[in-house]
This record gives sequence, C-alpha cells and structure tokens, in this order.
Amino acid sequence: MYQAYLHQELEHYLIKRGILPNDSDRRFWVRFMANLENIHSLFLELYGFRHDKNEFFQELLELITQTYLNRAAELKNQDREKEEKGHWFLSSELAGMSLYVDRFAGNLKEMPHRLSHFQELGVNLLHLMPLFQSPATESDGGYAVSDFQKVDSRFGNLDDLKNLGKIMREEGMYLMLDIVLNHTSRLHPWAIKAKSGDPHYQEYYHMYSDRYIPDQFEQYMPEIFPDTSPGNFTYVEEVHKWVMTVFHSYQWDLNFANPRVFLEMMGNIYFYANLGVDILRVDAPAFIWKELGTSCQNQPKAHTLLRLIKLCIQTASPGMALLGEAIVAPSAIIKYFGTDYFHGKECDLAYNASQMALQWEALATGKTRVMLEAQSDVLQKPYGCTWLTYTRCHDDIGLVFEDDSVRASGFNPWDHKNFIKDYYTGKIPGSESRGELFSYNPKNHDARLSGTLASLCGLEKALEANDPQKIEIAIQKILLMQAQSMFIGGIPMLFYGDELGYTNDYSYLNDSSKSYDNRWMHRPSINWEKNARIHEPGSVEERIFSGTRQLLSLRKSLEPIGDYKNIQWLSSHNDHIAGFIRAYDHRKIYCLFNYQGADSYLTWFIFKEHGHPIYKIHDLWENKEYTVGLDHEYLVIKPYSFMILETYSQ
Ligand code: GLC
Ligand code: GLC
Repeated sequence: MYQAYLHQELEHYLIKRGILPNDSDRRFWVRFMANLENIHSLFLELYGFRHDKNEFFQELLELITQTYLNRAAELKNQDREKEEKGHWFLSSELAGMSLYVDRFAGNLKEMPHRLSHFQELGVNLLHLMPLFQSPATESDGGYAVSDFQKVDSRFGNLDDLKNLGKIMREEGMYLMLDIVLNHTSRLHPWAIKAKSGDPHYQEYYHMYSDRYIPDQFEQYMPEIFPDTSPGNFTYVEEVHKWVMTVFHSYQWDLNFANPRVFLEMMGNIYFYANLGVDILRVDAPAFIWKELGTSCQNQPKAHTLLRLIKLCIQTASPGMALLGEAIVAPSAIIKYFGTDYFHGKECDLAYNASQMALQWEALATGKTRVMLEAQSDVLQKPYGCTWLTYTRCHDDIGLVFEDDSVRASGFNPWDHKNFIKDYYTGKIPGSESRGELFSYNPKNHDARLSGTLASLCGLEKALEANDPQKIEIAIQKILLMQAQSMFIGGIPMLFYGDELGYTNDYSYLNDSSKSYDNRWMHRPSINWEKNARIHEPGSVEERIFSGTRQLLSLRKSLEPIGDYKNIQWLSSHNDHIAGFIRAYDHRKIYCLFNYQGADSYLTWFIFKEHGHPIYKIHDLWENKEYTVGLDHEYLVIKPYSFMILETYSQ
C-alpha cells in the first residue's frame, strides 16, 4: 500500500543499518516491495478466475520494472522532489487551464510562444485536450482514439509534445493529459482486427453475435447521448456482431475483464507517465467496468481497477498524480478517492462536479440552500486528496446533485431541474442566459446544458443589447463563479476563453463532423486580436482578465486556501449567501459569496460564533478594513459579489 512517508522511513532505516545500498534505485525497490502484496491482491480480485493469471501477473511485474528503467533521470529527480514535498498538488500555488491546442495556438510548435499568456494570468498547469491520433470526422474532440502513442498530425508530432513539456518544466509549469480508458475509436487497429473477424481482438471489446445479452444489458444501462447515439450497442456489419458503444457509436467500449486489455492500457498509461505528465486525467472512469444487471456505472470493480492503476503508477512513476473524471452524484464521486482500506488511495484528484453544478444552481435560483445541503457528502474527501474545481469545461453541465438535497431545501426536484434548464436556456423572464439543452432525452426529459461561462452569465445578450449595466452584471457573475471555485479548495481549472469572456461560437453548425454536438458552441477558436484587448483598460476582455488574474494571485498568496481539509461552512444566516472559513496555521479567511442580484445582509454575529471573537476584518479583494459591529447591525454584500476576509482577533 502506498504510504510515501512510511516508505521513506523504512528506506532511511535500512540504509543506516547497511542493509540497503545508498543508490538512486533504492526508492523504487522499497516502493515495489511495499506495494507488491496489494498489487497482487487487486490483480487477483479482477483476474483471479483465469487459469493463466500468473503469466499475466509476471508480465505486469515486467512492465512496472521496465517503465522505471526507461524513466528519464530528470523525471526521477522530480519524483523525489514531489515525494519530499508531500502532497504537492494540495498547495494554493497551483492553478490550471484546459485547452484545445489547435483552437488555442494552431499546433504544438506554436504553444511555447503562447506560454506568456498563462504566466500573465497566473496559470501554471495546462490540461491539453486529447492530442493522440483520432479520426478527423469522428473524433469526439479527441476522445475517440485510434493510436494512444502517436500524436495526431493536426497538432504536430511526439517530438513537439516532448519539446513543449520540456519548456514547461523549465518554466515551472505542470502538464496534464488524458488517458481515454473506457473506449477506443472504431478505427483503432484493435477494432479493425476485431472487425476482420480475429477472435483475439474481439475479446478486447464487448462483442456479441446476437441481441440476447445486449438486450439484457440495455434493461439497466442509461443512455449517454440519447439523441445522437441512442442505445448502448452498435451493429458491426463486417462480422454480424453487436459491440458495446456507450458513448458515440464510433467509440467501442474496451473489455477490462480481459487482462490483456488491462496490460495494454497500463502500457499506455506508463507511456504518458514517462513523457512527463504530472496529472493524468482518467476519462470516464465510472464506466470502465461492465456488469450485467447493473447500470454499468460506478461498479466496485471499476474502483478495483483504478486502485491497481494507482499502485502501479505509485511504484514506477510516483510523480504522476491520478485525476478521476467521474461526473456523478456527490455520494458516488467521493468513492473515487477510495473507501475502507483504500480510503485516500485511489484517485488523488476528482472533479468537484457537484460544486460546479451547485454554483450554477445557486446563480439561477439566487439561493444557496441546496449547495449547503450537499456539503455533507463533499466534505468526506480524505486528507491528501483534492478536487479539481471549475465553473466550465469542454463538456456540458450535468445537474449532478442529489434529489434528497433538493428536497431537504424545500424544492420539488423535478420542478427545480426544469427551472434551472429553462433559466439557462433563457426561457424564464428576466434570465439573461443564452445556453442550450444538451442530450435531451424525450423518454425521461433529462437534459444537460451547453454554453460558455460568459454566455450563461448573460454577457452575450448584454453585449448584443449594448447595455453597460447588464454587461457589468454579467462580469460580476463571471467573477463570482470563478471566485468561489478558486477559494473552495482544490486546483482551479479554468477553461480557455473564459478568462476574457468568450461567448458562444455557433460556427460548429456549419461543420458536419461537429454540428450534431452542441458542446462545440463552448469550445472557442482563439482570436489573438480579441485576446490582445486584455491590455486595453476598460474593455470587457480586460475587465474579466484582470479580475481573474487578481483572483488567482490572491489565491496564490494565501496558504490557507490550499486544500488541507481546512474548510468549515458557515451555517445558513442568509439564504442568498454561500460562505465558508478557510483556516490554517492561526490564519482564518472568511469567504462569502452573494448569489442574488440585490444587496445581501449578514449579521456580524457570524464572526463571533466560531472560536475567538473577531474584532477587525480586512477584505483582501477590495482592500477595505471593517470593524466588526454589534449583533443587530449588518455587513452588506453587494449584488453578485463576494468578499475574501482575513480576520483579526485583536
Ligand atoms: C468524457 C469526456 C467527454 C467525452 C466522453 C467520452 O466524459 O470529457 O468529452 O465525450 O468522456 O470519451
Ligand atoms: C427556484 C426558483 C423558484 C422555482 C424553484 C423550482 O428556487 O427561485 O421560483 O419555483 O426553483 O423548484
């Protein structure tokens, strides 16, 4: 089991006693020995039923060793530095941005010339959206991979990626890439061989010669893209078989019950590790294990598989952290950090998808009750793990909060969801939002939402109407949303374009490889003339960019904003305000967010109910001092604004 601190203790002790040689490989040896038993038992949990399990296990041991031997000295040094720092990804010094290389800079070669944009903003971690080979006309934004180790020519080549990685490391920046674990493109060589009738490769997928088993699966499996890719199976004419395709029909689900698939994909994971990836985003981990008679999501063995992957990474390439992209309800997300014996030992990071959705919920309703209600699940995150916090990403917004939290807040879950969908598609009078429904399912009326941060916050409409007051409100909403996601704990991951207010781009409708998927409306192509306006004082771009930059720089300067399980939510004094305390090492920062379009009042008593009474507060955002008033007096928070307050007891 991975216990970096214990491993180091043991190692120091064994060296001191002359049992271990004092050379650079000893740490690997200690990690391998310490993790071996768990690697073995997790492996058996998945593949113990196979008569040939031992041969596969031998292969795994060889893969781990070979990966370590191939790992560049520079990366091994970085592993050591990260290990000595402890949980390096908890610090408030990290801030990320997610982007498409082609839409942002053209290609990988151009990226180094654009790094100054991130440095100016205060971003030091880049999530480069999928770069590996993917068929141009059916790529799902790169999530339908036809070669996991070949950079797609539209971005450049592997050397360009390595070169960018090297420059980023020299500049102190971190790199995040995806592993698309759940499926391959139907044009991956494995799929092509399966299609040609090769039974060895047919076992890489879930393939059936008739509808008997597929029909049984369908009874329990929800549909992910019901409007454009209904059902979970696709007929493969060439072999007259049905193959499981949970996402698009051109994305074939891999069969991880086959140990060969696990070894192949582990090899790909290690390939990324040895490229120098700092955070590996595991795409769609909720789906990786299929079990007849279940929804085939969040299965216990999906967790076993992730734990096994985590331990293999921990052994050969410990500097690479694991991020799970599980966009599911809070009580299910939390399990991706591990449970029971593996508590805190599965994914290092997970998307705080619940908080993201709840912020949109609060912005629509002007109320924060559901957000507060949901925290009991969210707060169970183990120490040493952290969130990736965000307001928007390349995907749709799923309203993934629990009906129970909604009910407990006094709303009817059905009406409440409909209200939010109507609000963001601009159907509610007074709503300034311009979003669209994504993946509407006529069977259950379920739908998610597409649209950029700016358009959902009303900037698109306000600009069209040329209404300065509405533009101002939209900017405040944008900064409010960003602020809460930056101060709640976890690594903020901005989505490119949002830092200067890109509105929806409808040009995807003219491209038949994209027009069926409205997520493209919020995946902008960067116009560097527009971007240059971040330097024109008073322009919309400058106001959003400088606000975002100031938020990141404030965050970076405050140690308590790192994620040390140091958050305490304020009880609900005012239904429109979300508030929490971030405390660390004798410092206390109160963070307050007003989600309504009117002033909100907070009794000064909130500064008196948690430990030592507080006499003075300093708003670090507006740089203003306040003296805490009497209990019947109020602190006033302006519409859609927030306060980041350092407090003083004397
Ligand atoms: C993840 C990606 C999404 C993609 C899906 C299938 O959810 O974020 O963009 O469509 O996986 O790979
Ligand atoms: C929100 C709205 C309210 C609506 C309700 C639906 O709270 O403010 O008007 O009826 O959601 O549940």
